[in-house]
Amino acid sequence: MTWNLTPDQLDIQARARELATTVIGPRAAAVDEAEQYPWENVEALQAAGFTGMTIPTELGGPGHSFLDAVLVVEEMAKVCGVTGRIAVESNMGAISAVMEYGTEQQKKLAADLVLHGDKPAICITEPGAGSSASQMTTRADRQGDRFVLNGMKHWITGGTVSKLHLIFARVFDEDGNEEGIGGFLAVRDENPGLSFGKREPTMGLRAIPEMEVIFTDMVVEPEMVLMPPSGFKRGFADLMNAYNAQRVGAGTVGLGIATGAYELALAFAKEREQFDRPIAEFQGLQWMLADMSVKLEAARSLTYRAAESRGPNDSPFPDPAMAAQAKIFTAEASIDVVNNALQVFGAAGYSRRNPLERMYRDVRMFTIGGGTAQILRTVVAARILDMKLPQGRGGFLPRD
Ligand code: FAD
Ligand code: COA
Repeated sequence: MTWNLTPDQLDIQARARELATTVIGPRAAAVDEAEQYPWENVEALQAAGFTGMTIPTELGGPGHSFLDAVLVVEEMAKVCGVTGRIAVESNMGAISAVMEYGTEQQKKLAADLVLHGDKPAICITEPGAGSSASQMTTRADRQGDRFVLNGMKHWITGGTVSKLHLIFARVFDEDGNEEGIGGFLAVRDENPGLSFGKREPTMGLRAIPEMEVIFTDMVVEPEMVLMPPSGFKRGFADLMNAYNAQRVGAGTVGLGIATGAYELALAFAKEREQFDRPIAEFQGLQWMLADMSVKLEAARSLTYRAAESRGPNDSPFPDPAMAAQAKIFTAEASIDVVNNALQVFGAAGYSRRNPLERMYRDVRMFTIGGGTAQILRTVVAARILDMKLPQGRGGFLPRD
């Protein structure tokens, strides 16, 4: 590991590793099997100060950086992908958007919830608007100074367990004219009109519910509108800009799972003997392990670099193109690394007695959730070509 971490960061990493190996890891198989949200892991993260890490000190948080949070996510994901994801959304998802764009009252509400163990939910995707997120149809109709939300989201991580929800919706004025896309905050059980539909039976990461979230005449008072700094007209761009932090976090979970799998494969290759010698002595496996290490080092460098980056115009969030580059490479490399780590184990890798099959199921998600690898290539292409690359039928446009 060659990244220049500060002594404080090395300390965070060491504490996270200790918690992961002694507490979180031993529970991971049972958490996967139970398919129940692991509240005991949330308590452990909270007690260690690993939730709300990026909340500023004036709001009661420790004011850590995104990279500090990434170090924790990586350690948790090495042993338990689900706990890695909880660490992402407790430190760098909707919470970051609220800390940057929120009113003092909103920041206080979000900080109190997250510092007490809430993992906020971010509600963007709809059945008809996945990659084409800006085509969402969930609407927020102005009625005086409040808004009434109607619509439905799906694949919402943590639906039914999260308290705070950040909901993206298309805003209309009282005459039915569209104003753009805004962010709306709601708290489960406190907002009549917020309900949940079906839970998705997922391939991996099974202990976090992926839910349909339904808004039926859900009233949002003005103090719960998360106003994008450039207003609703460019609200989608502002909200997606904040989302870049979570994208880096999502890539980090993949990196962590793959690193965990690689470390298991290294140890196994030295122990397991065939033809009267450890299988680590066979060049076929040595080269597989070497390739895994190369991919992981490259993925880690891209991820840490993205976590430390800031986008154009003094953005407080990671640079969109660097976040996309990191997530594309890390997600694809991680799937490959876990696949090969499982191969090193032979039949044992295919058994549910060992963690490789869980890691394989878990890691598969990261080229999909948080922006697919294809869509993120579009984000990178727009940057390197300095063009807008609309995916609709409008064609490519030179930037002004
Ligand atoms: P589609 O957009 O239908 O894409 C289908 C395929 O077409 C993909 O391969 C895609 O890459 C490709 N494609 C689409 N458009 C293009 C294009 N222009 N160019 C090239 N290829 C293209 N969403 C939330 O809002 N909140 C959450 O908490 C959340 N959590 C999730 C957790 C998990 C485990 C998963 C799997 C998803 C989650 N999502 C969440 C949803 C996720 O963001 C979407 O699945 C993702 O954006 C892709 O949308 P889609 O599944 O509708 O695929
Ligand atoms: N960071 C900063 N700005 C972003 C951004 C990001 N991640 N994604 C989009 N924007 C900006 C664009 O730059 C554009 O601003 P501009 O007008 O100054 O150029 C504006 O938002 C609108 O984007 P545009 O590219 O015109 O929208 P689009 O409808 O063609 O789709 C996608 C943009 C495909 C990149 C976007 O919808 C996307 O990221 N889809 C994946 C959804 C996703 O990640 N969901 C995760 C849910 S958990």
